[in-house]
Amino acid sequence: MAEQKATNITWHAGEIGKAEREQFLGQKGVVIWFTGLSGSGKSTLAHAVEQRLFENGHLCYVLDGDNIRHGLNKNLGFSPADRTENIRRIGEVAKLFADAGLIAMTAFISPYSADRQIARGLLKEGEFIEVFVEVPLDVAEQRDTKGLYKKARAGEIKEFTGISAPYEEPQNPEMVINTADMSLQESADKVISYLVNAGIIPGDA
Ligand code: ADX
Repeated sequence: MAEQKATNITWHAGEIGKAEREQFLGQKGVVIWFTGLSGSGKSTLAHAVEQRLFENGHLCYVLDGDNIRHGLNKNLGFSPADRTENIRRIGEVAKLFADAGLIAMTAFISPYSADRQIARGLLKEGEFIEVFVEVPLDVAEQRDTKGLYKKARAGEIKEFTGISAPYEEPQNPEMVINTADMSLQESADKVISYLVNAGIIPGDA
């Protein structure tokens, strides 16, 4: 748990609430939390869903691990403590985006169940949609889109998820998408259908 250091602070709620913003946007503000190994297809899938939603008039935003680590989280590495802080910050940022009425999608390995649970706990029931982007390690390693598995096997990258650092699979995710078995189109369809069925967007996407 991050320490509460700030004192003498008061929460200020504005006159316009989440419900008004959701009505304005014609969608529910939620967090779609993609989790999975490096190279599993989290970012690709999140961006495909974003494109589909955007074309149908919905506002979303993808928070992506590699991108966020260039800025907001540039001072964090890959130790267990740093990954926990990485996910804590992203959970809070995603919550703000959802409060703004957006469909926030996060694409982080987020290897620890406890960290994902904390992120889930920041949102109301039904507002946190965990998507396990499942792919066998050997498939992710074969893809090796960034050449990092090769480096990790050679010992050039320490604490690499799946090789020398753990990945704790979600036990009860809202969705499991195996990108080795399904096309990108099918995978995006599955996420969109979930959003329609859950009443997050009307059935127009
Ligand atoms: S997380 O574990 O803290 O959730 P995050 O998703 O932000 O990770 O970043 C993962 C990305 O960082 C990977 O896709 C990869 O490009 C890069 N990376 C660099 N070093 C490592 C490492 N040791 N373990 C995993 N990913 C790494």
